[in-house]
Amino acid sequence: MSYVARDDRPADKADRYAEVEAEILAVLDGEPNLTARMATVASMLADAFDHYFWTGFYVVAPDKTPDGADELVVGPYQGTLGCLRIAFGRGVCGTAAATRQTQLVEDVHAFPGHIACDSRSASEIVVPVLDASGELIAVFDVDATTPAAFDAVDQAGLERLMAKVFAAG
Ligand code: SME
Repeated sequence: MSYVARDDRPADKADRYAEVEAEILAVLDGEPNLTARMATVASMLADAFDHYFWTGFYVVAPDKTPDGADELVVGPYQGTLGCLRIAFGRGVCGTAAATRQTQLVEDVHAFPGHIACDSRSASEIVVPVLDASGELIAVFDVDATTPAAFDAVDQAGLERLMAKVFAAG
């Protein structure tokens, strides 16, 4: 499934991103707690788009592994059980964290090292999340059950939203 507009929603997916971004920013106004901010983003985005199947954050773990490597640990999410920890460089989330580049994956089964937390996932997008000082604090991961469910409109909408929620001064 790709974007499906309902009666109460804009026909255009980019307009829907702009609308939900404004709603999220209004809800989060004055709330500094990072967990509250991530939980609100995951909840409101999962509710806003029918093509979202698993929606959530993997945060940069505060401590390195015993062998000195960085890893991600699961944060606030909506969906079926997610893997708890992902090494930087591993799978789609770990690649987004290691490269700080959004990963837009039309077919997860063709992605080297993809981690299948739920076998129903077919495509995904993972966006790096930076704080106001440019530090990587998390990645935001959305999975869909159909191939190629995400496109450049999802990427632009999510990159802008993450910048406004987590990197704005
Ligand atoms: N698909 C991800 C793993 C996380 S889950 O799908 C919730 C990946 O390969 O990074």
